[in-house]
Amino acid sequence: MSQTSTDIKSRAIFLLGFGGVGRALTRQIIAARQLHATRNHLRLSVNGIADSSGVVLAADGMSDEQLNRLLEAKTHSGRLGVEQAPLRSVQPSSHLAPGTIVVDTTATDVTAPFLVAAMRAACGVVLANKLPMAGDLAWYDVFAAGSARWETTVGAALPVISTVRTLLDSGDEIQHIEGSLSGTLGFIASQLEAGVLFGDAVRDARQRGYTEPDPRQDLGGLDAARKALILARMVGYRLNMSDVQVESLYPAEMDHLSVDAFLHEVDSLNASMALRANALTQGGRRLRYAATVENGRCGVGLVGADPVSKLGGIRTSDSIVVFSTKFYSENPLAISGRGAGQEVTAAGVLGDIVDLSREMA
Ligand SMILES: NC(=O)c1ccc[n+]([C@@H]2O[C@H](COP(=O)([O-])OP(=O)(O)OC[C@H]3O[C@@H](n4cnc5c(N)ncnc54)[C@H](OP(=O)(O)O)[C@@H]3O)[C@@H](O)[C@H]2O)c1
Repeated sequence: MSQTSTDIKSRAIFLLGFGGVGRALTRQIIAARQLHATRNHLRLSVNGIADSSGVVLAADGMSDEQLNRLLEAKTHSGRLGVEQAPLRSVQPSSHLAPGTIVVDTTATDVTAPFLVAAMRAACGVVLANKLPMAGDLAWYDVFAAGSARWETTVGAALPVISTVRTLLDSGDEIQHIEGSLSGTLGFIASQLEAGVLFGDAVRDARQRGYTEPDPRQDLGGLDAARKALILARMVGYRLNMSDVQVESLYPAEMDHLSVDAFLHEVDSLNASMALRANALTQGGRRLRYAATVENGRCGVGLVGADPVSKLGGIRTSDSIVVFSTKFYSENPLAISGRGAGQEVTAAGVLGDIVDLSREMA
């Protein structure tokens, strides 16, 4: 049956963050406009794009040509190349039409008050940014109770968050969650297990582009801890980041070092890390940097996983989340696969936008 233009709904998008994920999402929105119009009866209209310098607004939505110009300018110069207003000049209640979806692809918590104000102004929120969900519990409560989606905050586009929702909606009881949620720490754990010295593993991971330029941002475990906290909160535990037990793979005394000095001095940890890896891998156990959520508690750190368990069997570059529940007890429910990457994350964000649009229709 042919479809008329009156069947197609338009949805306004206000995009916070125009980095790797934000730009991949914009390219996917351009490519999918026609596809989505026919498949989802939805046309996405981008009415605002913000980076750290400010915001570009277009009350009637940006054309593909305008979006392509912004993409090109940002990719080549790091700037949007047009006049930007400060984001603080935008008040969701007066500048965003109800039903607009605000998409946060930044990596900062300064966007959280804007997102909360948007929710109060009858807008929806889609987050790739973990910080609003893992920050103040009052923020979490607003997003969890309203028109919001945050699938890509844990395991990128893997359906981890939607699985938690479905389990809870269906009356199941989640008793235990364990997972490997950091590809970078998964790689380093596999190297240690293979007998590679810790310092060599860290430098290798950095050279391959697996770590942030300052690898301490990965080694500290905070990113994995935030993902674990989001899962714990969804299960119903009223926890804050200060309650999460985080095993950092380097001591706090090394925080003051420059990146170069750290990359040199990290060898001082070789012997202690080798001892720890040996102790955890006795009897053929597999070394994993795992998140655990159980009995009101939540933590991340190195563990020795049973080699025949789902956690022990995963390819270390992949992410996995394993749910032991009332209905999935003997053979727990596992979600695994590629848990990082800008394109796949942007696709997950787009999926959230479409899903939320249906709910808000
Ligand atoms: N990449 C992945 O595999 C992946 C997977 C899952 C989730 N995520 C999450 O997705 C988010 C984005 O990741 P990314 O790789 O795209 O990061 P990114 O390249 O660093 O982009 C971050 C963007 O946020 C902008 N920004 C910073 N402060 C802002 C503010 N106050 N207001 C508006 N915009 C602001 C930055 O502006 P400038 O351009 O001006 O600096 C930049 O455009 C992160 O939270 C990340 O954890 C990423």
